[in-house]
Amino acid sequence: MKILISGGAGFIGSNVAEQLLNLGHHVFVIDNLSTGKISNLDDRAVFFEADITSEQLDKLFNQIKPDQVLHFAAQVNVNRSIEDPLLDEETNIKGTVNILENCKKHGVKKIIYASSAAVYGVPQNLPIAESHAIDPISFYGISKFVPEQYIKTYAALYGLKYTILRYSNVFGPKQDHVGEGGVVSIFINKMLKNESLTVYGNGEQTRDFIYVQDVVSANIAAIDSEINGVFNVSTNTTISLNELVRIMSEFNSQKVELTYQESRVGDIIHSCLDNSSAISHLNWKPKYSLEEALKDTFDYYRRETINNEFI
Ligand SMILES: NC(=O)c1ccc[n+]([C@@H]2O[C@H](COP(=O)([O-])OP(=O)(O)OC[C@H]3O[C@@H](n4cnc5c(N)ncnc54)[C@H](O)[C@@H]3O)[C@@H](O)[C@H]2O)c1
Repeated sequence: MKILISGGAGFIGSNVAEQLLNLGHHVFVIDNLSTGKISNLDDRAVFFEADITSEQLDKLFNQIKPDQVLHFAAQVNVNRSIEDPLLDEETNIKGTVNILENCKKHGVKKIIYASSAAVYGVPQNLPIAESHAIDPISFYGISKFVPEQYIKTYAALYGLKYTILRYSNVFGPKQDHVGEGGVVSIFINKMLKNESLTVYGNGEQTRDFIYVQDVVSANIAAIDSEINGVFNVSTNTTISLNELVRIMSEFNSQKVELTYQESRVGDIIHSCLDNSSAISHLNWKPKYSLEEALKDTFDYYRRETINNEFI
């Protein structure tokens, strides 16, 4: 199958691209490299450096003629969305509408969209099912939800098939560890440099972490699925930041130093997504234990650190 991946030079998109190539699909990546990296790209993928908001998309869709589009490209930084809501709106909303217009024009059969737990806002009950109220507390959360509505309306008007996957906290190899990257990659990279880790709050806040390979398999299940739908993609388990650090400390040869700072405004204390609908309807389930996934990720960054020292 010909699969176009927007944001395929980023963390999740590049992991998905690699597995689709292993399965024999033809993979085309569109990315403006704003946070993505050329080094994340698999040589077997065809890469176009382009912005999803640009008119260039028409020409690229015409050239590629994809069967399905996996849409990951987005402004993903919550704090940046608060500082610059227009950029967030431009990339995440206008960019998605541009993708959808081209899906319609060029006969794409299906779109798979990377949405987020951020659409729910502060949980009213846990675990959060897909039927939970949508009440985002950041512009990022709004800009991830509005495209869901566009996708459903394109489906209703033009018969485009879709799967919307709302991810919990994803971690794994290739995640950015500078600035606002994920807490796992930031902590591991600080540990490898023997720097102290900063936890906001008392560390007892909990998250539902999911390994990127389980997100990859959810996307592959969605490609094969015949039903349109919105699904949480998570492990439906929680772990506190303190416990997370304790597990990762066991992989590190040096003692890990931890400093606590005041919690940040808007930080959600407990988050956990109910994944039972994806398990029942997508023929998918997460298969990695948190410990083995953290170990894989730790080993990946350790190898990266060693390789970089020799460059
Ligand atoms: N990482 C998580 O925990 C998480 C959780 C929920 C949802 N998501 C969603 O998953 C998707 C991928 O996130 P990620 O963590 O891999 O982030 P990432 O920043 O690594 O990937 C995003 C990619 O999109 C590209 N991009 C950004 N703006 C673009 C534009 N205008 N045109 C073309 N390319 C553009 C970037 O260069 C990057 O390669 C995003 O849609 C994000 O909202 C991620």
